[in-house]
Amino acid sequence: MQADHFDEVLTFPDADLKARYDALVGLDAIKERLEKEAQVLLRPDLIEDWSKKHHGGLIPAVRLLLRRPPLFIFAGDVGTGKTELATSFGDKIARDAKLDIELFPLSLRTRGQGTVGEMTQLISGAFKMLRDRSPKLNGKKPRAASILMIDEADALAQSRELAQMHHEDRAGVNALIRGIDDLAASKCLCLVVMCTNRLSALDPAIQRRAAAIFEFTRPNDGLRRHLLTGQLGTSGLSEGDIASVSELLGESKGREYGCTSSDIMQRYIPSLVLTAYPDKAITPALAKDLARSFVPTPPFRSQDN
Ligand SMILES: Nc1ncnc2c1ncn2[C@@H]1O[C@H](COP(=O)(O)OP(=O)(O)OP(=O)(O)O)[C@@H](O)[C@H]1O
Ligand SMILES: [Mg+2]
Repeated sequence: MQADHFDEVLTFPDADLKARYDALVGLDAIKERLEKEAQVLLRPDLIEDWSKKHHGGLIPAVRLLLRRPPLFIFAGDVGTGKTELATSFGDKIARDAKLDIELFPLSLRTRGQGTVGEMTQLISGAFKMLRDRSPKLNGKKPRAASILMIDEADALAQSRELAQMHHEDRAGVNALIRGIDDLAASKCLCLVVMCTNRLSALDPAIQRRAAAIFEFTRPNDGLRRHLLTGQLGTSGLSEGDIASVSELLGESKGREYGCTSSDIMQRYIPSLVLTAYPDKAITPALAKDLARSFVPTPPFRSQDN
């Protein structure tokens, strides 16, 4: 089954994925809300207990909350932690809600090879596998759950309104909507997370089904400093040096945008280390020179946005 529909399946709790979750900074508000939303959907018994305790029974508002489709959308700029959070947050839920969780990353191969109906079949098949494989709510305390991750979801869930959209892609979007609705109607303990750079390009019918939409943005000065201090704070750079580097990596030199988190973590810091290595130490001057010439990734702007 994995070969057809999913990339490597991950299981939580997992120490490495916990470390990756913990390493994501500046996402505290998103993490907090996501944790609550996910817990409510995967451990409905907990919010039912809360309702009974505080309101003397199951209030309609809680029923309403529990009936929402189990869909989250992570939207925002490139390199801001969407894929990393979608991959790792299951660990937090697994530990806090005491669940064994499996994460199924939907393979982008589901785009299919272009033969008519192939994508639709693959999406429907993936959702069916998920329903078959997911633990069910059976009146007992849930012990396990699953997460379906659809990364780069705009590739699959493009608005059906787009004029150039191919007939088969439209059928694929419809299959996706049906899959989400069927999951919501089933008793499956399962969440779907879609990541996208272009919220506006996601089909409105998919957007409106989302239990929550989380918006990811580039780090501000405080967060850039936090990221830099975490990696370079013990290499002889003072707080003032870090502040200067952060400013150079920000919206300066007539640019409207600063670095993304991934620019800092995957490009600036590694290249600083490799500039110094093997003969020199990392110095404030080296760090500032490199920051001065560093070019941040431009924001994602699509022609149909
Ligand atoms: N908030 C963050 N805190 C720490 N590191 C981060 C953060 N966001 C991104 N990174 C770093 O950048 C890398 C890339 O992040 P990720 O792949 O999650 O970006 P993304 O939002 O999915 O981008 P894209 O839209 O291009 O797919 C991560 O592996 C991590 O090293
Ligand atoms: Mg990504």
